[in-house]
Amino acid sequence: MKKGIFIVLDGIDGSGKSEIVKMLHNYLFSKNKGYRILTTREPTNGSYGKQIREMLQNEKDPFASSNTLIGLFIKDREQHLKATMEPFLKNKNEDELNIVLCDRYYYSTIAFQVAQGLDVKEVISKNKNFRKPDLAFILDVEPSIALKRIEHRKKEKFEQLEFMKKIRENFLNLNKLLKDNIKIIDSSKPLANVFENVRKEVDKVLD
Ligand SMILES: Nc1ncnc2c1ncn2[C@@H]1O[C@H](COP(=O)(O)OP(=O)(O)OP(=O)(O)O)[C@@H](O)[C@H]1O
Ligand SMILES: [Mg+2]
Repeated sequence: MKKGIFIVLDGIDGSGKSEIVKMLHNYLFSKNKGYRILTTREPTNGSYGKQIREMLQNEKDPFASSNTLIGLFIKDREQHLKATMEPFLKNKNEDELNIVLCDRYYYSTIAFQVAQGLDVKEVISKNKNFRKPDLAFILDVEPSIALKRIEHRKKEKFEQLEFMKKIRENFLNLNKLLKDNIKIIDSSKPLANVFENVRKEVDKVLD
């Protein structure tokens, strides 16, 4: 039985994850009628994910609540995998390929909660049993550019320039810390260009 393909898009706030996920979804939907695509995100809309979103919207200090947050992110991810992603990735039909596109994953937990001051080894260890993506993208852009892109939105807990610089560094360090298939993509370029670089890597995995 063919196994499903699990693809993650990650990066700092305003790096373009949600836009690229949408473009990738549309591209894959048209590319092959045998693809079944699940587009999803973390934090989820489940009970733990909702608590996380509330904290991100209401808290101001980026350093606060690191232990509470990591606990919630791990619970949310366990639920997301068990209830949604793992079942979908079990390919039942030989003529179909199931593909999960996930907007943020444990790369964000490592980048953000380590920026909050948690120990990197500990954060990685808490995530070590989760399914590894077949392919992961870190969309990389300077935080000042990313913040400009989202300036019309209400600021969340982590959306402050100095803090985002730490998060960015943590994302760029991931390849040294993990044995995952991570591609760093320059997302300071126009969207079409960013998408083209993502698409090339996705096609390599699929063809
Ligand atoms: N490469 C790009 N060039 C110019 N604008 C972009 C680019 N990528 C994204 N944008 C714009 O920046 C804004 C933020 O993009 P998007 O919502 O995809 O980011 P995100 O990474 O999902 O952010 P968040 O983490 O806050 O959800 C959107 O208005 C989007 O159209
Ligand atoms: Mg988004």
